[in-house]
Amino acid sequence: MKEIFNRRSIRKFKDQAVEPEKIDRLLRAAMQAPSAGNQQPWEFIVVKEKEALESLSQVSPYAKPVANSAVTFVLLANGDALKIPTAWEEDMGAAAQNLLLEAVHLELGGVWFGVATSDVVVENVRKLFNLPDNIKPFALISVGYPDGQKNEFTDRYKAEKVHYEKWL
Ligand SMILES: Cc1cc2nc3c(=O)[nH]c(=O)nc-3n(C[C@H](O)[C@H](O)[C@H](O)COP(=O)(O)O)c2cc1C
Repeated sequence: MKEIFNRRSIRKFKDQAVEPEKIDRLLRAAMQAPSAGNQQPWEFIVVKEKEALESLSQVSPYAKPVANSAVTFVLLANGDALKIPTAWEEDMGAAAQNLLLEAVHLELGGVWFGVATSDVVVENVRKLFNLPDNIKPFALISVGYPDGQKNEFTDRYKAEKVHYEKWL
């Protein structure tokens, strides 16, 4: 699938809105992801307002491009009634990747910003949105029309990473 091979992290965006139909499609793609026991733990906050994006860009030292994105999705997991509580991060990773790949398909650019990777960033997101304890911040995904960067193939295949039938 060409979207998998061409996807790149895009961190510079044109000052151009992403159409509501595309935002809807991105959310639908995320929610099509597989999840453990089909528990579908995801929740999304969709942020498009300039000031809100500026505040959101400050939750992590590595999330500056959020400020100039057309839309940033805050990916959250709902900790209530998880069938398989150990799997929520894996479920959310699958949803995040689906969203990023659909963005490429729609000729948009996107980038994943880690949140669950840092307790400090998790707390910053929690405070910003006044999240209840059962809602677990996972990641931010910024999307927009790429400005000067593009989705293009870079080869990462390494034959030595593949082990047939046994380790050694
Ligand atoms: C869990 C995770 C966390 C990431 N966090 C950040 C981040 O905080 N800031 C950022 O600019 N990129 C972040 N990225 C994007 C990676 O830097 C990027 O995917 C990687 O350098 C490979 O480049 P590519 O996406 O263009 O293939 C993150 C990616 C993942 C999967």
